[in-house]
Amino acid sequence: MSAEEIIRLDMGKMDGDTAADAAATLCLGIESSCDETSAAIVDSNRNILSHIIYSQIPEHQKYGGVVPELAARAHILAIDEVVRQTLERAGKTMGDIDVVAATAGPGLIGGVLVGWMAATGIAQATGKPLVAVNHLEGHALVPRLCATSASGAAGGSHVEFPYLLMLASGGHCQILLVRGVGKYELIGQTLDDSAGEAFDKVAKMLGLGYPGGPVVDTRARDGNPTAFKFPRPLCDKPGCDFSFSGIKTAARTFLDRNPAPHTDEFINDFCASFQASVVDCIINRLTNAMCDTRGAAAAPRTLVVAGGVAKNSAIRAAMEELASRHGMIFAAPPMNLCTDNGAMIAWAGIENHRCGNIVREPVAPRPRWPLTEL
Ligand code: KG4
Ligand code: ZN
Repeated sequence: MSAEEIIRLDMGKMDGDTAADAAATLCLGIESSCDETSAAIVDSNRNILSHIIYSQIPEHQKYGGVVPELAARAHILAIDEVVRQTLERAGKTMGDIDVVAATAGPGLIGGVLVGWMAATGIAQATGKPLVAVNHLEGHALVPRLCATSASGAAGGSHVEFPYLLMLASGGHCQILLVRGVGKYELIGQTLDDSAGEAFDKVAKMLGLGYPGGPVVDTRARDGNPTAFKFPRPLCDKPGCDFSFSGIKTAARTFLDRNPAPHTDEFINDFCASFQASVVDCIINRLTNAMCDTRGAAAAPRTLVVAGGVAKNSAIRAAMEELASRHGMIFAAPPMNLCTDNGAMIAWAGIENHRCGNIVREPVAPRPRWPLTEL
C-alpha cells in the first residue's frame, strides 16, 4: 500500500467545517470491520479534521463479495499508513489527540482485530483513553455528527435524541428507537437476509458485480418499477420485522426462467421492480413502528436512516415522504458517511467518552455484538 494510493482516497474536510475549537475534545477513530480501512479525526464540536477511507472493494470484486482472509491481510497492510496520514492531514500528532476509538465488533473478526489492536497499541503507548465502539452504534450515532435531507442538501444540522432509526447495512436490518448513547430499543429486525444482502445478491444474479446496492440504485432510475411483480413479504402482517429472502428467491426463479443475455431495458426494469419491493417493505414496517412508538413516554420526532443502504435514493425519498406525512422530521447522514467510515467511529468515540464509557480492562473483539447488549 503506497502513500499515494491512500492519499487518493482522502475524504478531506466536510463542507462547512470551521476551524476546530481549541477546547474541543479530539478523537482519533479507526474502522476495519469489513472491507474499508478508515481513520478520522473528529472533534466534539462536530468538525471532521481529516478522514481517510481506503476501500478494498477492487480487491474483492473478482470474487463477487468480501473474502474475510484477504480483507484481514489488506487491513494489516494499510492500517499504519491510513492512521499516519490521518494525523498528518489534520496537522496533528498523537500528543494533540484526547481519545482513541476503534470498532471492537460486530464484523469480520480478522479485520476487527487489526483495527482494535492498532488502537489498543496507540492508546497504551500514548496513555490516551480508549473507547471500544460497537460498529452499529457508529452507524446509529453518525446523524448526530452531521445530517442532511433525502437529496443530501441542507447539510450542517444534526439529530437530537430520541429518534426512530432504520439501520440498514450489508449485515444488519433493524428498526430501533434510539433514546441516547447506549440506549437502544429494538422495534423490529430481519428474520433472514439484510436489505444490503438482498441488493448484493440480486445484483450478482444479474451479473452487475459487487457491491450491488449502488449499481441497482443507478439502474433503477431508468427502469419501470411495475414491470415485474415481486412479493412484499410480511407486509400483510402486523409488526415491524422484515424478510427479504422471499424477494431474492423470486428474483432467482424469474431469472432461471428468463436467462441471460438481458437487454439494458430488462435489467433497468428488473432493478426498479426489485428496489420498489424493498422500499415498500421498509415503508410498511416503519409505518407500524411509528404507530407503536407514538404513545411512548418520549416519542421520537425524527425519522432517521443510516448504514450503507441509507445511500439508496429511492429509500431516502420514500422515508422523507413518510416522515412528512406523519409530521416527523427526516434526516440521513451525508452520502460519504452512510457506508463504513472512520468518522462515525470517531464520533461514537466522542459520545461514549463524554458518557465515561472508556476501556478499563482488556476488551475482546466480538464478531457478534447486538446494540441491545450495550
Ligand atoms: O454499512 P455498510 O458499508 O457495511 C456494513 O456494515 O455492512 O453497508 C454496505 C451495504 C452493501 O450491501 C451495499 O450494497 C449497500 O450497503 N449499499 C447500497 C447502496 N450503497 C451501498 N444499497 C442500496 N442502494 C445504495 N445506493
Ligand atoms: Zn457498516
